[in-house]
Amino acid sequence: MIKLAPSMLAVNFLKLGEEIERMADAGADYLHYDVMDGNFVPNISFGQGILKYAAKCGLPVDAHLMIANPEKYVEEFVDAGAKIVTVHAEATNHLHRVLQQIRNAGALAGVALNPGTSPECLKYVLGDFDLALVMSVNPGFGGQKMIPATINKVGEIRRMLDAAGCDALIEVDGGLNTKTCIPFMEQGMTVMVAGSALFGASDAKAFIDEVRAVDAKLHA
Ligand code: DX5
Ligand code: ZN
Repeated sequence: MIKLAPSMLAVNFLKLGEEIERMADAGADYLHYDVMDGNFVPNISFGQGILKYAAKCGLPVDAHLMIANPEKYVEEFVDAGAKIVTVHAEATNHLHRVLQQIRNAGALAGVALNPGTSPECLKYVLGDFDLALVMSVNPGFGGQKMIPATINKVGEIRRMLDAAGCDALIEVDGGLNTKTCIPFMEQGMTVMVAGSALFGASDAKAFIDEVRAVDAKLHA
């Protein structure tokens, strides 16, 4: 069944606690925590300090590190409570090493790919990650339009994982709503990140239920 990961970038930061609770009540599976450094991406968001409090909500935190040289901060994010730490393949010279570092620190390891990055770079780290994150927008901002050229990349990764017998999750992030998520589900997405569309929905539970119903139908 598809898992839902609300992106905290879309919330009023002063109401963080309430908003996280609202998503947990609506049936979310993870909390997607977008970390931006103003270097790897143009924007700056929040860091490990706030994560320490966000992680107390009970939902497993999926920390999406949009930061250069993520190897410098892996342990700090795990210590702050992240259950999944996802680094960008483009942000490190040593992808294989940082994936090991994340697992050694006690979290699940994720690899994120920008829209312009080929899924080929996953080929030699198959088995070393637990989640592949396909960016369906250029990282840095919430509320952008999904880039359709990224849809087929999900299918390519699905086939690569299946051929290797890997059960890693495939997460998709950016511009997803109850309609734009459908082609990604058809291609094999297993975790859907939703920011502005989910937090802006009048009924978050109805949003999540609708996505789950479409997924159930597709995989019936
Ligand atoms: C973009 C972030 C996303 C973003 C998703 O750089 O990684 O997680 O917040 O937000 P929406 O769903 O609004 O595109
Ligand atoms: Zn993200």
